[in-house]
Amino acid sequence: MDFKVLLILLPSFLLIVECDEKQKPGKTTGKKVVASPKSITKKPKQDLLKRQQKSRPPNSPSQGQAAGSILSQVLQRGRFQPVGDTVTVKAGQTLELRCKGTSVRWSYPRYLQEDDEGRLRIKRFGRYSQLLLVNSTAADTGEYSCGGYQCEGDGCHDGGEKTGKTFVFFTDPQELFVPTEDYYVAVQLRTRQPALLPCQVTNPQARVTLHREFPPEQVPVDGVKISFDVKKGYIIYQPQPSLAGSLYCIAELGSLRQMSTKYMLLYLHYPSAPPKPSVEASVSSVRAGDNFFVTCTVLGELDISVEFTWEYPGQQFGRPLYVRESTEQTRRGGQLLQESQSILNVDEARAVDDGTYTCSAQNLQGSTSVSTRVTVLPPAPSASGRTQG
Ligand SMILES: *[C@@H]1O[C@H](CO)[C@@H](O)[C@H](O)[C@H]1NC(C)=O
Repeated sequence: MDFKVLLILLPSFLLIVECDEKQKPGKTTGKKVVASPKSITKKPKQDLLKRQQKSRPPNSPSQGQAAGSILSQVLQRGRFQPVGDTVTVKAGQTLELRCKGTSVRWSYPRYLQEDDEGRLRIKRFGRYSQLLLVNSTAADTGEYSCGGYQCEGDGCHDGGEKTGKTFVFFTDPQELFVPTEDYYVAVQLRTRQPALLPCQVTNPQARVTLHREFPPEQVPVDGVKISFDVKKGYIIYQPQPSLAGSLYCIAELGSLRQMSTKYMLLYLHYPSAPPKPSVEASVSSVRAGDNFFVTCTVLGELDISVEFTWEYPGQQFGRPLYVRESTEQTRRGGQLLQESQSILNVDEARAVDDGTYTCSAQNLQGSTSVSTRVTVLPPAPSASGRTQG
């Protein structure tokens, strides 16, 4: 109800200096005078100017889903504004958010769920819920969101749950990157799948670049194959084997230049689909005592490893069959493919070898099974022996 009034007040609030009249009434007046309001008023002004110079002000309530959002930031006692896409708070300060609704659910960075030192408090009031984070640190940077139902009397309103979210940067003059405990992080690059190098910054105004450790060079970021998301880090949309290696980010702001955790990028040829095996026995029926083999073949993409497993009738009787596997490149219709093969050899067939032979071929996307039947006939009546000819 009072949003409009507050938006009008907004530009002037930044210049207001809160007087400590009510607090510490017993202290000497001398201390009050010593407090330098000049330095306090100047800083917000500079911040404001910086933001106005930027094309996309990070703290502007006119951005994103601000209008009608159920989530607001409480700036000073009694003053609050709907949050924008991002909010910037100085590390050490208190973050206070309010979410409208009589029944509210919050979510906040996982770090705060694990690192519970009582800095985060959530309080319910009649028509809203309050999230209070005191003694904030750069590590608290992340997404804060809430979902709320408006319930009264006969029940909750139709239209269901409303949600609000914002990304809060806790700027720390000493920490341009959100601190992590890891000295280095392994990142798997998979064919056709985006990968994330989570070098998150604590200040949206930091200039971030991507670097390779060896040979030392800056990695070009074109915004298509690789792009930087100020809330996430670098996103590699089209992983290439050439990107593998040790990478890190550098953030610069003013005279400060910092290096992120190192990311060990490992390239993994990732299949587009589970394998499509075919299975074939050298004979469909065999006389007891004779040899035969069953071949399972997968024709697929290059550099994709395929793992074969077999199920066969003699398995439960401990028949020791042996398997030979091979992989080679082959050209089909002008295309270079990989032929992976597993051959199950059955020597001196016995009655227990009669039945179904199932081959399962597995790659990182899944497994596919195919079967064939082999019939074992009684030995030939005339004992022609095992001599070949
Ligand atoms: C916040 O910091 C102050 C000063 O260091 C400390 O006295 C207080 O206990 C802290 N509060 C919480 C909840 O950690």
